[in-house]
Amino acid sequence: MVEVLRDAGVVVTGAGGGIGAALARRFADEGARVVVNDLDAGAAEQVAAEIGGTAVAGDASGIVAEAREALGGTIDIFCANAGVGTGGGPETDDEVWLQAWDVNVMAHVRATRELLPQWLDRGSGRFIATVSAAGLLTMIGAAPYSVTKHGALAFAEWLALTYRHRGIRVHAVCPQGVRTDMLRASGAAGELVLAPTAIEPEEVAEAVLQGIADERFLILPHPEAGKYYAARATDTDRWIDSMNRLQQKLEHSG
Ligand SMILES: NC(=O)c1ccc[n+]([C@@H]2O[C@H](COP(=O)([O-])OP(=O)(O)OC[C@H]3O[C@@H](n4cnc5c(N)ncnc54)[C@H](O)[C@@H]3O)[C@@H](O)[C@H]2O)c1
Repeated sequence: MVEVLRDAGVVVTGAGGGIGAALARRFADEGARVVVNDLDAGAAEQVAAEIGGTAVAGDASGIVAEAREALGGTIDIFCANAGVGTGGGPETDDEVWLQAWDVNVMAHVRATRELLPQWLDRGSGRFIATVSAAGLLTMIGAAPYSVTKHGALAFAEWLALTYRHRGIRVHAVCPQGVRTDMLRASGAAGELVLAPTAIEPEEVAEAVLQGIADERFLILPHPEAGKYYAARATDTDRWIDSMNRLQQKLEHSG
Protein backbone atom coordinates (compact mmCIF):
# COMPACT_ATOMS: atom_id res chain seq x y z
CA MET A 1 0.00 0.00 0.00
CA VAL A 2 1.36 3.41 -0.96
CA GLU A 3 0.17 5.81 1.73
CA VAL A 4 -0.07 8.91 -0.50
CA LEU A 5 -2.68 7.16 -2.65
CA ARG A 6 -5.19 6.44 0.10
CA ASP A 7 -8.21 8.69 -0.54
CA ALA A 8 -6.13 10.80 -2.96
CA GLY A 9 -7.95 12.62 -5.80
CA VAL A 10 -6.34 11.26 -8.97
CA VAL A 11 -6.88 12.08 -12.64
CA VAL A 12 -5.66 9.76 -15.40
CA THR A 13 -5.90 10.97 -19.00
CA GLY A 14 -6.26 8.47 -21.83
CA ALA A 15 -7.52 5.95 -19.29
CA GLY A 16 -10.17 4.29 -21.46
CA GLY A 17 -7.68 1.55 -22.33
CA GLY A 18 -4.05 0.47 -22.28
CA ILE A 19 -1.61 1.89 -19.72
CA GLY A 20 -4.06 4.59 -18.52
CA ALA A 21 -6.74 2.03 -17.66
CA ALA A 22 -4.16 -0.07 -15.78
CA LEU A 23 -3.03 3.02 -13.83
CA ALA A 24 -6.65 3.95 -13.00
CA ARG A 25 -7.42 0.42 -11.78
CA ARG A 26 -4.26 0.22 -9.69
CA PHE A 27 -4.77 3.65 -8.10
CA ALA A 28 -8.37 2.71 -7.24
CA ASP A 29 -7.10 -0.55 -5.68
CA GLU A 30 -4.83 1.59 -3.49
CA GLY A 31 -7.82 3.57 -2.23
CA ALA A 32 -7.64 6.60 -4.52
CA ARG A 33 -10.69 8.41 -5.90
CA VAL A 34 -10.11 8.34 -9.65
CA VAL A 35 -11.26 10.49 -12.56
CA VAL A 36 -11.03 8.50 -15.78
CA ASN A 37 -10.52 10.68 -18.84
CA ASP A 38 -10.54 9.58 -22.47
CA LEU A 39 -11.48 11.00 -25.85
CA ASP A 40 -13.58 7.85 -26.17
CA ALA A 41 -16.49 8.58 -23.80
CA GLY A 42 -17.77 4.99 -23.80
CA ALA A 43 -14.36 3.59 -22.87
CA ALA A 44 -13.95 6.14 -20.07
CA GLU A 45 -17.43 5.30 -18.69
CA GLN A 46 -16.67 1.61 -18.74
CA VAL A 47 -13.40 1.87 -16.79
CA ALA A 48 -14.92 4.40 -14.36
CA ALA A 49 -17.90 2.11 -13.68
CA GLU A 50 -15.58 -0.83 -13.07
CA ILE A 51 -13.47 0.98 -10.46
CA GLY A 52 -16.13 3.19 -8.87
CA GLY A 53 -14.53 6.31 -10.38
CA THR A 54 -15.88 9.23 -12.39
CA ALA A 55 -15.64 9.52 -16.16
CA VAL A 56 -14.71 12.87 -17.70
CA ALA A 57 -14.72 12.50 -21.46
CA GLY A 58 -12.90 14.80 -23.87
CA ASP A 59 -9.48 15.99 -24.97
CA ALA A 60 -6.90 15.59 -22.20
CA SER A 61 -5.86 19.20 -22.78
CA GLY A 62 -8.96 20.74 -21.24
CA ILE A 63 -10.31 18.66 -18.40
CA VAL A 64 -8.67 19.99 -15.24
CA ALA A 65 -11.61 22.16 -14.11
CA GLU A 66 -14.21 19.43 -14.59
CA ALA A 67 -11.99 16.77 -13.00
CA ARG A 68 -11.24 19.01 -10.01
CA GLU A 69 -14.95 19.59 -9.45
CA ALA A 70 -15.62 15.85 -9.68
CA LEU A 71 -12.99 15.32 -6.95
CA GLY A 72 -14.50 17.88 -4.60
CA GLY A 73 -12.17 20.77 -5.38
CA THR A 74 -8.68 19.25 -5.20
CA ILE A 75 -6.58 17.14 -7.54
CA ASP A 76 -3.73 15.46 -5.66
CA ILE A 77 -2.22 13.50 -8.52
CA PHE A 78 -2.48 14.18 -12.25
CA CYS A 79 -1.36 11.47 -14.69
CA ALA A 80 -0.74 12.97 -18.13
CA ASN A 81 -0.94 9.63 -19.90
CA ALA A 82 -2.89 10.23 -23.14
CA GLY A 83 -0.58 10.06 -26.11
CA VAL A 84 -0.47 9.40 -29.83
CA GLY A 85 2.05 7.08 -31.47
CA THR A 86 2.67 9.07 -34.61
CA GLY A 87 5.08 7.43 -37.07
CA GLY A 88 6.90 8.73 -40.13
CA GLY A 89 9.61 11.31 -40.79
CA PRO A 90 9.82 14.84 -42.22
CA GLU A 91 7.47 13.83 -45.07
CA THR A 92 4.66 13.54 -42.52
CA ASP A 93 2.15 16.38 -42.86
CA ASP A 94 2.49 19.38 -40.57
CA GLU A 95 -1.02 18.73 -39.31
CA VAL A 96 0.02 15.29 -38.05
CA TRP A 97 3.23 16.64 -36.47
CA LEU A 98 1.17 19.31 -34.74
CA GLN A 99 -1.31 16.78 -33.41
CA ALA A 100 1.55 14.78 -31.88
CA TRP A 101 2.93 18.00 -30.35
CA ASP A 102 -0.51 18.94 -29.05
CA VAL A 103 -1.32 15.63 -27.33
CA ASN A 104 2.16 14.46 -26.30
CA VAL A 105 3.50 17.81 -25.04
CA MET A 106 1.02 20.71 -24.95
CA ALA A 107 -1.61 18.72 -23.03
CA HIS A 108 0.98 18.45 -20.23
CA VAL A 109 1.77 22.16 -20.40
CA ARG A 110 -1.91 23.15 -20.35
CA ALA A 111 -2.75 20.80 -17.48
CA THR A 112 0.07 22.08 -15.28
CA ARG A 113 -0.85 25.68 -16.11
CA GLU A 114 -4.16 24.99 -14.35
CA LEU A 115 -2.83 22.70 -11.64
CA LEU A 116 0.18 24.63 -10.39
CA PRO A 117 -1.49 27.66 -8.76
CA GLN A 118 -3.44 25.44 -6.32
CA TRP A 119 -0.53 23.04 -5.83
CA LEU A 120 1.93 25.85 -5.07
CA ASP A 121 -0.55 27.46 -2.69
CA ARG A 122 -0.89 24.34 -0.62
CA GLY A 123 2.72 23.18 -1.11
CA SER A 124 1.93 19.78 -2.60
CA GLY A 125 0.94 18.08 -5.84
CA ARG A 126 2.12 15.19 -7.99
CA PHE A 127 2.42 15.18 -11.79
CA ILE A 128 3.03 11.83 -13.48
CA ALA A 129 3.83 11.99 -17.20
CA THR A 130 3.64 8.83 -19.26
CA VAL A 131 6.53 9.61 -21.59
CA SER A 132 8.26 6.64 -23.26
CA ALA A 133 11.72 5.18 -23.70
CA ALA A 134 11.45 7.07 -27.02
CA GLY A 135 11.86 10.23 -24.94
CA LEU A 136 15.18 8.99 -23.54
CA LEU A 137 16.35 7.24 -26.70
CA THR A 138 14.66 7.41 -30.14
CA MET A 139 12.12 5.14 -31.81
CA ILE A 140 13.05 4.06 -35.31
CA GLY A 141 10.43 4.87 -37.96
CA ALA A 142 8.72 7.47 -35.75
CA ALA A 143 10.19 10.99 -35.80
CA PRO A 144 7.10 12.87 -34.53
CA TYR A 145 6.76 10.41 -31.67
CA SER A 146 10.46 10.54 -30.73
CA VAL A 147 10.69 14.34 -30.92
CA THR A 148 7.51 15.00 -28.93
CA LYS A 149 8.38 12.40 -26.29
CA HIS A 150 11.77 14.11 -25.89
CA GLY A 151 9.73 17.29 -25.42
CA ALA A 152 7.50 15.66 -22.81
CA LEU A 153 10.55 14.45 -20.90
CA ALA A 154 12.18 17.88 -21.07
CA PHE A 155 9.02 19.51 -19.74
CA ALA A 156 8.68 17.00 -16.89
CA GLU A 157 12.34 17.51 -15.97
CA TRP A 158 11.89 21.27 -16.04
CA LEU A 159 8.86 21.01 -13.73
CA ALA A 160 10.75 18.76 -11.32
CA LEU A 161 13.81 20.97 -11.02
CA THR A 162 11.79 24.16 -10.79
CA TYR A 163 9.28 23.12 -8.14
CA ARG A 164 10.81 20.28 -6.10
CA HIS A 165 11.56 22.58 -3.15
CA ARG A 166 7.96 23.78 -3.21
CA GLY A 167 6.43 20.35 -2.63
CA ILE A 168 5.67 19.41 -6.23
CA ARG A 169 6.62 15.83 -7.15
CA VAL A 170 7.13 14.86 -10.77
CA HIS A 171 7.64 11.45 -12.36
CA ALA A 172 8.47 10.59 -15.98
CA VAL A 173 7.41 7.07 -16.87
CA CYS A 174 9.52 5.72 -19.73
CA PRO A 175 8.57 2.20 -20.79
CA GLN A 176 9.74 0.43 -23.94
CA GLY A 177 7.04 -1.79 -25.52
CA VAL A 178 3.77 -2.29 -23.65
CA ARG A 179 1.07 -4.62 -24.99
CA THR A 180 -1.68 -2.11 -25.85
CA ASP A 181 -3.54 -0.94 -28.96
CA MET A 182 -0.73 1.55 -29.58
CA LEU A 183 1.89 -1.21 -29.80
CA ARG A 184 -0.42 -3.30 -31.98
CA ALA A 185 -0.72 -0.33 -34.38
CA SER A 186 3.02 0.37 -34.50
CA GLY A 187 3.69 -1.88 -37.51
CA ALA A 188 6.96 -3.51 -38.52
CA ALA A 189 9.16 -1.16 -36.42
CA GLY A 190 7.16 -1.93 -33.27
CA GLU A 191 7.26 -5.62 -34.10
CA LEU A 192 11.06 -5.51 -34.48
CA VAL A 193 12.07 -3.17 -31.65
CA LEU A 194 9.30 -3.25 -29.05
CA ALA A 195 7.37 -6.51 -29.23
CA PRO A 196 10.17 -8.90 -28.16
CA THR A 197 10.52 -7.28 -24.72
CA ALA A 198 6.97 -5.92 -24.38
CA ILE A 199 5.35 -6.02 -20.95
CA GLU A 200 1.74 -5.77 -19.76
CA PRO A 201 0.14 -2.41 -18.81
CA GLU A 202 -0.27 -3.76 -15.26
CA GLU A 203 3.52 -4.05 -14.99
CA VAL A 204 3.83 -0.37 -15.88
CA ALA A 205 1.29 0.48 -13.16
CA GLU A 206 3.30 -1.58 -10.66
CA ALA A 207 6.50 0.28 -11.63
CA VAL A 208 4.69 3.61 -11.18
CA LEU A 209 3.60 2.66 -7.68
CA GLN A 210 7.15 1.65 -6.83
CA GLY A 211 8.46 4.91 -8.33
CA ILE A 212 6.06 6.91 -6.16
CA ALA A 213 7.05 4.95 -3.06
CA ASP A 214 10.74 5.59 -3.85
CA GLU A 215 10.12 9.24 -4.88
CA ARG A 216 12.07 8.68 -8.11
CA PHE A 217 11.74 11.08 -11.04
CA LEU A 218 12.60 8.56 -13.75
CA ILE A 219 10.44 5.45 -13.72
CA LEU A 220 11.79 2.68 -15.96
CA PRO A 221 9.43 -0.30 -16.20
CA HIS A 222 12.13 -1.87 -18.44
CA PRO A 223 15.27 -1.32 -16.33
CA GLU A 224 17.52 -1.95 -19.35
CA ALA A 225 16.31 1.37 -20.82
CA GLY A 226 18.55 3.04 -18.22
CA LYS A 227 21.59 1.23 -19.62
CA TYR A 228 20.73 2.25 -23.19
CA TYR A 229 20.25 5.84 -21.99
CA ALA A 230 23.69 5.84 -20.38
CA ALA A 231 25.27 4.25 -23.47
CA ARG A 232 23.65 6.85 -25.71
CA ALA A 233 25.00 9.66 -23.53
CA THR A 234 28.53 8.34 -23.19
CA ASP A 235 29.16 6.85 -26.65
CA THR A 236 26.59 8.50 -28.88
CA ASP A 237 28.04 7.44 -32.23
CA ARG A 238 28.23 3.82 -31.20
CA TRP A 239 24.61 4.01 -30.07
CA ILE A 240 23.54 5.59 -33.37
CA ASP A 241 25.42 2.82 -35.23
CA SER A 242 23.51 0.16 -33.32
CA MET A 243 20.15 1.87 -33.94
CA ASN A 244 21.06 2.31 -37.61
CA ARG A 245 21.68 -1.45 -37.82
CA LEU A 246 18.13 -1.95 -36.55
CA GLN A 247 16.90 0.52 -39.17
CA GLN A 248 18.68 -1.47 -41.88
CA LYS A 249 17.21 -4.70 -40.55
CA LEU A 250 13.77 -3.10 -40.75
CA GLU A 251 14.40 -2.03 -44.37
CA HIS A 252 15.50 -5.53 -45.32
CA SER A 253 12.53 -7.16 -43.63
CA GLY A 254 9.99 -5.05 -45.56
N1 LIG B 1 2.24 0.93 -25.73
C1 LIG B 1 3.53 1.21 -25.70
O1 LIG B 1 4.35 0.41 -26.19
C2 LIG B 1 4.01 2.48 -25.05
C3 LIG B 1 5.38 2.57 -24.73
C4 LIG B 1 5.86 3.73 -24.13
C5 LIG B 1 4.99 4.77 -23.85
N2 LIG B 1 3.67 4.66 -24.18
C6 LIG B 1 2.82 5.82 -23.87
O2 LIG B 1 1.80 5.41 -22.98
C7 LIG B 1 0.67 6.28 -23.10
C8 LIG B 1 -0.58 5.43 -23.21
O3 LIG B 1 -0.48 4.67 -24.39
P1 LIG B 1 -1.12 3.20 -24.57
O4 LIG B 1 -0.05 2.32 -25.10
O5 LIG B 1 -1.89 2.83 -23.38
O6 LIG B 1 -2.05 3.54 -25.81
P2 LIG B 1 -3.57 3.19 -26.13
O7 LIG B 1 -3.71 3.63 -27.54
O8 LIG B 1 -3.89 1.80 -25.74
O9 LIG B 1 -4.37 4.15 -25.14
C9 LIG B 1 -4.33 5.53 -25.27
C10 LIG B 1 -5.66 6.08 -24.86
O10 LIG B 1 -5.56 7.50 -24.93
C11 LIG B 1 -6.73 8.01 -25.52
N3 LIG B 1 -6.42 9.31 -26.12
C12 LIG B 1 -5.71 9.58 -27.23
N4 LIG B 1 -5.63 10.90 -27.43
C13 LIG B 1 -6.31 11.49 -26.40
C14 LIG B 1 -6.58 12.83 -26.04
N5 LIG B 1 -6.16 13.84 -26.78
N6 LIG B 1 -7.29 13.06 -24.92
C15 LIG B 1 -7.75 12.04 -24.16
N7 LIG B 1 -7.53 10.74 -24.46
C16 LIG B 1 -6.82 10.47 -25.56
C17 LIG B 1 -7.16 6.96 -26.52
O11 LIG B 1 -8.54 7.05 -26.85
C18 LIG B 1 -6.80 5.65 -25.78
O12 LIG B 1 -7.87 5.15 -25.01
C19 LIG B 1 0.96 7.15 -24.31
O13 LIG B 1 1.40 8.42 -23.90
C20 LIG B 1 2.06 6.41 -25.03
O14 LIG B 1 2.85 7.25 -25.83
C21 LIG B 1 3.18 3.55 -24.76
